[in-house]
Amino acid sequence: MSDLLAVILAAGKGTRMKSALPKVLHRIGGKSMIEQVINAADLAGAKRKVVIVGFGAQSVETALGEQAEYVVQEEQLGTGHAVMQAAEILQGFEGTVMVLCGDTPLLQGQTLAKLFAEHQAAKASATVLTACMPNPTGYGRVIRDESGQVLKIVEQKDANSRELAVNEVNTGIYCFERAALFEALNGITCNNMQGEYYLTDVIGILAQGQAKVWAVQVDDYQETLGINSRIQLAEAEKILRRRKLASLMDNGVTIMDLDSTFIDEEVCIEPDTVIYPFTWIEGATTIGKGCEIGPSSRIQNSSIGDNAILHFIYAHDCQIGNHVTVGPYVHLRPNTTIADGVKIGNFVEVKNSQIGKGSKIPHLSYIGDTDMGEKVNIGSGTITVNYDGKNKHRTTLEDGVFIGCNTNLVAPVTVGKGAYVAAGSTITKDVPSKALGVARARQNNIDGWVNKK
Ligand code: UD1
Ligand code: CA
Repeated sequence: MSDLLAVILAAGKGTRMKSALPKVLHRIGGKSMIEQVINAADLAGAKRKVVIVGFGAQSVETALGEQAEYVVQEEQLGTGHAVMQAAEILQGFEGTVMVLCGDTPLLQGQTLAKLFAEHQAAKASATVLTACMPNPTGYGRVIRDESGQVLKIVEQKDANSRELAVNEVNTGIYCFERAALFEALNGITCNNMQGEYYLTDVIGILAQGQAKVWAVQVDDYQETLGINSRIQLAEAEKILRRRKLASLMDNGVTIMDLDSTFIDEEVCIEPDTVIYPFTWIEGATTIGKGCEIGPSSRIQNSSIGDNAILHFIYAHDCQIGNHVTVGPYVHLRPNTTIADGVKIGNFVEVKNSQIGKGSKIPHLSYIGDTDMGEKVNIGSGTITVNYDGKNKHRTTLEDGVFIGCNTNLVAPVTVGKGAYVAAGSTITKDVPSKALGVARARQNNIDGWVNKK
């Protein structure tokens, strides 16, 4: 098998997006469009990814970082001109160059892998991925002879009426043998309706010569749709989301409402978990089996064990164990680890804390910068006072601690194993193990006060 390298065209502005952001950086399925394309190239086995940048070059490079190599196309003189800019960086590479566009985020790795495999099996100099479109308007048409051999590609604006009637289009995705590609590129001109150097002319040049030009038809034309406008972006987003939901359902996950569930591609969910409506699950999130997630929840970059019930919550960068119940109206903030069997209820915020096995924070609390042991019970309205205006301090609650309602725990402070804190206390000193900490004024009843008044 020869080496595979991808060249991804992304120098255009994307005028119709009406955006300050380069088109390829618009997001879909939780990633930028161009990252989706790079992923597909990766899955197809492309070892190097070379991105042709132009409009907003710096922001594209910053967004993608090490994922790719970059070549700048100063002036956008056409797709052929764009590929020519990679001549130098590809010198010495002996293998197949796959050309892709940065604005086709629905492409799947397996489709590109198949294109590459067929290109190699055919021993072709160039293989173009084509699609039969219900409406081919705007695309380059693939022109074949009577035997089916590809002769050339004609752009919409340069096509005659017979050519316009062809509904097999160029997807803008190709495999080329490097040497043949750059040799043919030397032969292209900008004598066409748009005055551009068309990459598509390479196909005609190679077909006229000795080289073998091959074509592979994509099974699902939707995969190769190029995004030019915000409407197309929204439509593609829907297709991508559906694809993810379908694969989760195939693997045994129940999704109650496909229209109000948004799950990023890299999210993993195990069987028999049920996702209720109005739920977003994003980033590197994993969810175990038998969970109930949602309704109305947003979970980002978190790992969740088995049989957890999370409803009406927002959790980000958290670890949640098995048999945990959270919600409704709970905010779990970064660096929070929740052990098995924990219950966190109504209107609770937890930040940068460890919550030990079987502990309970059932109502109206703020728990920040806290190390909580096992089987701790937190009374309603408990607040960890973790910030003195300059620094954050930690609260330690050892195993079996019982905190009465409406307690302030002024950190740094430790409540020892099995100790109690009386309701309404403001605790500023450590409470020893097994002790009762009381820190509030003693109640004084004035007999007959009402009559005297
Ligand atoms: C191109 C094809 C057309 C095909 C269609 C598929 C050509 C001449 N035509 O047309 O046959 O049906 O794609 O979507 O290739 N770009 C650069 N530098 C440039 C010009 C373009 O990097 O100088 C990039 C764009 O940012 C974009 C991609 O190349 O990502 C395609 O360019 P675009 O202008 O959209 O080509 P189409 O007219 O759609
Ligand atoms: Ca296009």
